[in-house]
Amino acid sequence: MPDEMSAAETVRLEIFGAEDVEPVVADVPPNERILDACDDARAAIPFSCRSATCGTCIVHVLDGAELVEPADAEEAEVLRSHAASPDERLACRLVVSADHGTIRLRARRG
Ligand code: FES
Repeated sequence: MPDEMSAAETVRLEIFGAEDVEPVVADVPPNERILDACDDARAAIPFSCRSATCGTCIVHVLDGAELVEPADAEEAEVLRSHAASPDERLACRLVVSADHGTIRLRARRG
């Protein structure tokens, strides 16, 4: 029974890259950072500082914005300084807040 419960308590993460390439897919449990899931899945999201400073990891959240924690003041300031659109977030600051659903991301930079 615990295995069934843990399998159900994940969010499907789809990370899109080039137009003609299948997305990288990962199952991410609540409270896990997208950064860690991207590392584990070897997804094509560029990271540099990993601490909401550089803006390298800006991603478009194509679907599932409601499944992650909202941006805090520090992230919002970095996004503002990079003229981010309302659907963009820092992948290094995204933390899953739900236990089911699908999040679709695309890196701003390839
Ligand atoms: S890796 Fe630098 S802001 Fe995310």
